[in-house]
Amino acid sequence: MKAPDRATEATSPIALSARPTREHVIARLAGGGAVALRPLRRGETGPLQAIFDAMSPSARAQRYLTGMPRLPAPWLETLADVDGERHVAWLASVGTRPVGVARYVVVAPGVVEIAMEVADAYQGLGIGTVLVDALTTAATARGIRRIRATLLPENEPSRRLVTRLGVRLTVAEGLLEGEGALRLLDPPRVDRHAVVALAARQSGSDHKSLG
Ligand SMILES: CC(C)(COP(=O)(O)OP(=O)(O)OC[C@H]1O[C@@H](n2cnc3c(N)ncnc32)[C@H](O)[C@@H]1OP(=O)(O)O)[C@@H](O)C(=O)NCCC(=O)NCCS
Repeated sequence: MKAPDRATEATSPIALSARPTREHVIARLAGGGAVALRPLRRGETGPLQAIFDAMSPSARAQRYLTGMPRLPAPWLETLADVDGERHVAWLASVGTRPVGVARYVVVAPGVVEIAMEVADAYQGLGIGTVLVDALTTAATARGIRRIRATLLPENEPSRRLVTRLGVRLTVAEGLLEGEGALRLLDPPRVDRHAVVALAARQSGSDHKSLG
């Protein structure tokens, strides 16, 4: 898809007319437009496949750290096997189109590893930023205090995002990887109370207040 399409779609009246519901949190993008954010539901493979299909080979390689012409079915199932606690993913949509997803997996008590992807035509609009803000807000509400990430060294957007969240990256075996104390974005890019409330409703579990 070409850049003009993304600009038109992401700032279209449809996107701008999105209203908060019990199922979504609406996040305004810095350059205009809005996306609807919500937790991915367990087994919901369709949006993940759609986002993967809308990524270039190089974007897929940046996400999965290896060439990925196709998303193998077992991977897709694993990526959709969220549980609202150990494995959490937040989905961004423009209108009815899924455009990005960010996830964390708990790798040690209070420590998560994060990963995210945005469909090529929607990159650079701030969607990755609002997604990680929602994700880390939900993580913080669940008592997560540290964050890890692994990236390809040339992945500047990702490096900027994870560094801002507190990950201290170092080079190891040709990759950038690291961990750090989780910091929420400042200023917030999402309505944090709405995110925590939606996460709690969806998982039905006991979330701590952000205070
Ligand atoms: C990484 C990714 C999720 C970021 O999503 P996005 O919606 O494009 O990101 P945003 O628009 O919110 O921008 C995030 C930061 O990157 C910067 N950025 C965006 N596009 C950029 C580009 N082409 N070159 C350099 N910086 C860029 C933005 O300016 C912003 O930094 P700032 O807040 O300091 O200005 C997206 O680029 C992507 O899907 N990449 C392929 C998969 C991947 O790399 N996943 C991460 C590995 S886990």
